[in-house]
Amino acid sequence: MPEAAPAVRGASNPPIARLADRLVSQIAAGEVVERPASVVRELIENSLDAGASRVRVRIEEGGVRRIVVSDDGGGIERAQLPLALERHATSKIASLEELERVGTLGFRGEALASIASVARLRLTSRTREAECAWRIDADTGEIEPAPGAQGTQAEVLDLFSATPARRKFLRSAATEGAHCVEAFRRIALAHESVAFELQVDERRGESLAPAHWHERALAALGDEYERAHRVVDVEAGVLRVRAVLGLPTRNRARADRQFLYVNGRFVRDRMLGYALRQAYADLMHGDRHAAWAVFVSIDPSQVDVNVHPAKIEVRFRDPAGVRSFVFHAVEAALRASANERSDAPASPALGWPATGSFTSSAAPQATPGSLHEALVSGRLDLSVREPQSTLASCPTIDAGSVPAATPPAAATAAGRQVDAADDDDAPLGHALAQLHGTWVLAQNRHGLVVVDMHAAHERIVYERMKAAYAARSIPVQALLVPVVFRADALEVALVDDEAAAIAALGLELSVLSAQSIAVRAVPAALVDADAQALARSVLAELREHGVSRALAERSDALLATMACHAAVRANRRLTLEEMNALLREMERTAAADQCNHGRPTWLQVELGELDRWFLRGR
Ligand SMILES: Nc1ncnc2c1ncn2[C@@H]1O[C@H](COP(=O)(O)OP(=O)(O)O)[C@@H](O)[C@H]1O
Ligand SMILES: [Mg+2]
Repeated sequence: MPEAAPAVRGASNPPIARLADRLVSQIAAGEVVERPASVVRELIENSLDAGASRVRVRIEEGGVRRIVVSDDGGGIERAQLPLALERHATSKIASLEELERVGTLGFRGEALASIASVARLRLTSRTREAECAWRIDADTGEIEPAPGAQGTQAEVLDLFSATPARRKFLRSAATEGAHCVEAFRRIALAHESVAFELQVDERRGESLAPAHWHERALAALGDEYERAHRVVDVEAGVLRVRAVLGLPTRNRARADRQFLYVNGRFVRDRMLGYALRQAYADLMHGDRHAAWAVFVSIDPSQVDVNVHPAKIEVRFRDPAGVRSFVFHAVEAALRASANERSDAPASPALGWPATGSFTSSAAPQATPGSLHEALVSGRLDLSVREPQSTLASCPTIDAGSVPAATPPAAATAAGRQVDAADDDDAPLGHALAQLHGTWVLAQNRHGLVVVDMHAAHERIVYERMKAAYAARSIPVQALLVPVVFRADALEVALVDDEAAAIAALGLELSVLSAQSIAVRAVPAALVDADAQALARSVLAELREHGVSRALAERSDALLATMACHAAVRANRRLTLEEMNALLREMERTAAADQCNHGRPTWLQVELGELDRWFLRGR
């Protein structure tokens, strides 16, 4: 075993000595330059701070061999080149006040010095006034004229070659290269007015032209969100939140498409991450992840960016205010009802383009009287008593079965007759038929609407129960004959102790004996549910989470569980009136586009898509 140096008690310690500058830099560099991707990031940030409108990045062998970043920004004067490489030398701030409202990405004056201490660095730069470019070699400090247009080029060679210990921690060139690409994309995402180019080894490069902020964000989320997203842009005082939000129906197994920025800087922030998860919580299964790009802009004096050497974390002056603003902005956008939608939910299983674009914002009202009222008041279950499962007994798919009052038809470009006026009061269209006791088919201006009636009904019941619960007035329906079931001791004890709390859920339970419980009343919306299964699942949730938590913090989850029991069972036949009532109710319901588990409740099949299926118009 090698002997540790200063272990012998009594022996004098080695004298204290100042560390050599280069060693100081190498130690400090550890915080700034962790891997090639950190170099890529620091250099691109410098280009952006210099006001570049075009940034080119070249990476060789995972960035370990060579990284070149060039820009067309303001450049560095010849006389300033040595200073640019010095530690704690910066042009970006000069005082504490300026630090407290810093608007540039850099300000610590460390990056170039750190890079120079762990790699070979050459900086070539030309300002607008200069007659030629000048190049400084960080190793020798020599400056010489060089060819080059206005702007700056930083070239980094052989990263960590002088610090083998660090180099050992690097992964394969492929992995380091992938991190570099990721760093490039993250920065490019938030600087949409700048053109970016990336070349990795000899592969075909990536290039991003200046674009609208939401176009660039959308490109980063991926093709599958092209139609399945919402755009948010809201502002209040010093705070602005812009976001492209993947629809909850397009959820993912991993949180790999989540990009959060504060004042143009990619950051990790647990608080905002949590706020976003909460905003999606209702619409998505808890172990799935949404895709989003969220840009928070805030007065720089309201946020401290000097928390972390790599500036990956920030601290807000008013964290609660920021959190609540982001949460509400995102939640409201996700819950916009079908009426205001600009895109339809996605259809993951089928890969159909989901593109219902409804322009109408008028709330649909006209629906058959009693049925509609029953639905709205929560008394209608969508079941029909005698189950009839054969398709033969359903209406046929035929435009003729659209309800009678069809307005004069208009001709589309394709020469097709459509009910042009329909969409004004019925974005989800008019019911045509029911398919296999599971789907409702409807016709709207764009083509065919397919509704998963169970998922849709579940969502409607859930939203209705949530509103009623919040108002402390869930309508209750007493059962003519109480449903009695055998229960275990814990269930009985729970009902004994908490009958009053349980009543808040519209459920009246009483203990009949040491081993049995009676269900005497259920929420009116769930009158056709299996009362025993309903009571059991509520008791299970209360037991798992504790009554007070379940009823307060987890009430949404609890109500969602209850709503599951309301789902219209398969193979129940609906009349056209009932189907239309369901469609109208969906239009009126917040977040009706997905069920409580994040599955879509409906999707649009466009006429153009049908044309393609049948090779029409080619
Ligand atoms: N691409 C560039 N264009 C113009 N100036 C640059 C560029 N890169 C670096 N500089 C200058 O060099 C200085 C030091 O850069 P750096 O070490 O990254 O520290 P910081 O960015 O924190 O100021 C910057 O303040 C800036 O004046
Ligand atoms: Mg910098």
